[in-house]
Amino acid sequence: MTELLDGKATALQIKEEIANEVRQLTAAGKRAPHLAAVIVGTDGASMTYVANKEKSSHEVGFTSSVYRMSESTTEKQLLESIEFLNNDPDIDGFIVQLPLPKHINEQKVINAISPDKDVDGFTPINIGRMVLGEDCFVPATPMGICTLLQRYGIETVGKHCVVIGRSNIVGTPVANLLSRKGFDCTVTMCHSKTQNLKDITRQADILVVAIGKPEFVTADMVKEGAVVVDVGIHRVEDATKKNGYRVIGDVKHSEVDAKCSWVTPVPGGVGPLTIVSLLQNTLKAYKKSNC
Ligand code: GUN
Repeated sequence: MTELLDGKATALQIKEEIANEVRQLTAAGKRAPHLAAVIVGTDGASMTYVANKEKSSHEVGFTSSVYRMSESTTEKQLLESIEFLNNDPDIDGFIVQLPLPKHINEQKVINAISPDKDVDGFTPINIGRMVLGEDCFVPATPMGICTLLQRYGIETVGKHCVVIGRSNIVGTPVANLLSRKGFDCTVTMCHSKTQNLKDITRQADILVVAIGKPEFVTADMVKEGAVVVDVGIHRVEDATKKNGYRVIGDVKHSEVDAKCSWVTPVPGGVGPLTIVSLLQNTLKAYKKSNC
């Protein structure tokens, strides 16, 4: 039987845990943790992500601020804003929503974020610390995937985990985290140049799909009884829906789900855990300087 790795329910539970901690801190006279976000331009998906982060921040009692900058913002102006946020003692952590407009060098911007406030875990310092197994901010989506597997008691030790996708935000860090002591998976990372992909994915006990292609993984690519984690999120037009669209993942759930022991739904799987991980990282940043 297939069971759901219910990200929505897990996220609600963790948000309640965070909210309790924040209530205790504020009852003791301390200020609330403060998460800020910088968004450049008006990309629809980015605006939705940032609005969700703001809403979740308020739900757990955090202070939240959003710095909205125009599409024509120069790299220099953005770097100056980052410098301001780095030095603002009232802000515990902040994120710069990606992607950035083409005229801005994304890595240069990420490199300018103070590692102590880098709650996205994107700076070279935090990535280096993660690879070394040191205390760090772990990127939110990989952290959310690990949390889901842990909270549902999924057996990972010695299992073959296949990751499809090698992005800096998801594929590369999740492959690293799941191969570590504690998770102890044997990890294979696949990408656009991988040959005989299906032969590899069919060997996966745990299949993490972060390739960014709608319904890319079909039933013939999945082993019977596998645990499938779908990181994809795509809007497709659907005239039968009130809002005119529906959300689908990188996995063709209509045919894959029946083969899985556990599967993350889309929506309501990995997505809610990503935001919760960002809140957890912000609370951690806050505690480092306030507790
Ligand atoms: N764009 C898509 N996902 C993310 C994320 O996790 N953090 C940031 N900053 N931008 C993103």
